[in-house]
Amino acid sequence: MKNFIYLDNGATSYPKPESVYDFMDHFYRNFGVNPGRSGYDLCMEAGEVVDDTRKMLTKYFNGKNPNRLCFCYNSTDALNLIINGMLQKGDHAITTTLEHNSVLRPLYHLYKFNGVEIDYIPFNKRGFVDPDDFPKKFKKNTKLVIVNHASNVIGTIQPIKEIGEHCHKHGIPFAIDASQSSGKIPIDIEELNVDIVAFTGHKSFLGPTGIGGLYVREGIEIRHTRAGGTGVRSAVRTHLYEYPYRLEYGTLNTIGVAGLYAGIKWIQEKGMHKIHEHEMKLTKMLKDVLKDIEGVTLYCQDDLANHIGIFLFNVDGLEAMNTGTILDVDYNIACRTGLHCAPLVHEQLGTAKVHGAVRFGIGPFNTEEHIQTAIDAVKEIAESQIGRNS
Ligand SMILES: Cc1ncc(COP(=O)(O)O)c(C=O)c1O
Repeated sequence: MKNFIYLDNGATSYPKPESVYDFMDHFYRNFGVNPGRSGYDLCMEAGEVVDDTRKMLTKYFNGKNPNRLCFCYNSTDALNLIINGMLQKGDHAITTTLEHNSVLRPLYHLYKFNGVEIDYIPFNKRGFVDPDDFPKKFKKNTKLVIVNHASNVIGTIQPIKEIGEHCHKHGIPFAIDASQSSGKIPIDIEELNVDIVAFTGHKSFLGPTGIGGLYVREGIEIRHTRAGGTGVRSAVRTHLYEYPYRLEYGTLNTIGVAGLYAGIKWIQEKGMHKIHEHEMKLTKMLKDVLKDIEGVTLYCQDDLANHIGIFLFNVDGLEAMNTGTILDVDYNIACRTGLHCAPLVHEQLGTAKVHGAVRFGIGPFNTEEHIQTAIDAVKEIAESQIGRNS
């Protein structure tokens, strides 16, 4: 679409690199069979792409065993496997108010229907949780700490290493939701003291929707909460206990894996650090101007040093949804408004009562020109709002 500016990369990255579209097409036309089920050539070649992707992701997370990298449909799927496979009646879990519904809802279901106790650690005014708040909530029955790595609402990167240190000192499994961070910034589970990491393929990894997964450190076991075909050892009556089969059920989304493979390759070629630097330069451009515009309120955009390219704001006097509609209709700018599937963040920010806020999600294909247009648009909307109220 002409002059269309996409600033909704927090929801999903768009467009994808050309190489992602090309490789998915090539893979599905030439190797679109069911890998791991048979030994004919095509099957082996399709399996190689799956194995290579497992290895690339394992390396990215600094895991030791590619078999412990399991593919799922997205991070919601992975997080459900983690939460339901680690917690049962009588257990206690700790999370934060920064979480996405893909963590909040499975936990709430366990609380409501299975008597699992949950504690929620709040974030401070700058958008960060305090690692020292976690051990204060540890109990004998604490079986999981699960924390958002980079917020999909305010963009802050949490002090994962320090939280993990506390968890490991007390022998409590520590999982992170890396939906927004994976593919954007380094994630070294050894350095960060993380036991389980959940990721999705369609955001910063620049792959398609319908593919995601998790890496589970050796020594941590996630119980089966599903069972089904694995393609191997079909005579066994239960679902297999060994990884990756333990957490993979039925035919994989192989075309999704292929797209993810191509997305990761593209990031490696361009340099993950360079892409992040570019996105943060654009985020800073937004912040530097909009922070001084009368009638615009920014949320947790101060510490861009520990931040991803997610920018949250409101135009005073306008509901977020209305600002979004004006941006769309009058300026051709696509963004996301509302609660961003993370209601507790908005409750804490005080934005829940105005039905949320406006989020710009910056991606690798955004340019300074896009951002300048967005800045001018927000300025104009704020000015017309002030004019209306004076
Ligand atoms: C922080 C966070 N967690 C989880 C998810 C869920 O991702 P998916 O929809 O790919 O499962 C999202 C997606 O918006 C997210 O931003």
